[in-house]
Amino acid sequence: MVQIAPSMLAADFLHLEKDVELVNKYADMFHLDIMDGTFVPNISYGFPIVEAIAKKATKPMDAHLMIVHPEKYVDRFAKVGVQMLSFHLNAVDNAGQVLAQIRAAGMSPGLAINPDIPVSRLFPDLDQCDYVVLMSVFAGFGGQKFIEATYNRLSEVKAEIIKQGVSCKVQVDGGISAANSAKLVELGADILVAGSAVFKADNPAAVIEAMK
Ligand code: DX5
Ligand code: ZN
Repeated sequence: MVQIAPSMLAADFLHLEKDVELVNKYADMFHLDIMDGTFVPNISYGFPIVEAIAKKATKPMDAHLMIVHPEKYVDRFAKVGVQMLSFHLNAVDNAGQVLAQIRAAGMSPGLAINPDIPVSRLFPDLDQCDYVVLMSVFAGFGGQKFIEATYNRLSEVKAEIIKQGVSCKVQVDGGISAANSAKLVELGADILVAGSAVFKADNPAAVIEAMK
């Protein structure tokens, strides 16, 4: 069954505990978007928020690093209890090395890719990834419109995973709602990230159920 990863970027930071409990109860993992204002134009949040979520989280934490030099922070994310850690392939010189570093730190490594980079750039490192993060919007902001070309990119990545015989999951991230989740699941998405669709809804639990 597809897993739903609500993006805490869209949570209510004045009532964060309420939204953490919602994920604990109805979803599969916490998606934590870390932005540095350099790799992407926006700045999100950092360790104080991740630590606060960690105190109450009973589901795994999946951090999506949209930062330069992700390798500098691997140990720190392991220490706060993050189980899944992804970074963008164009943020580093040697993706394989950083994937290995994340695994050595005891976390599941993931490799993220923006919509304007050919998915073939993921292929040499698929055997080292527990998951890839296929961006369906340009990394940097929540609430953007889903890019339709993602469907073909997802099919391409899934075909290559099968061809290589590796056990890499595909997480799709950005602009996801109950309106496009069915097609993504049909094409083989393993994890769907959704921020606005979940937290801006009147009934977030129902939205999570609908996406599943
Ligand atoms: C975009 C982030 C996404 C985003 C998802 O840079 O990686 O995780 O917050 O939010 P929605 O679902 O609002 O597009
Ligand atoms: Zn994300």
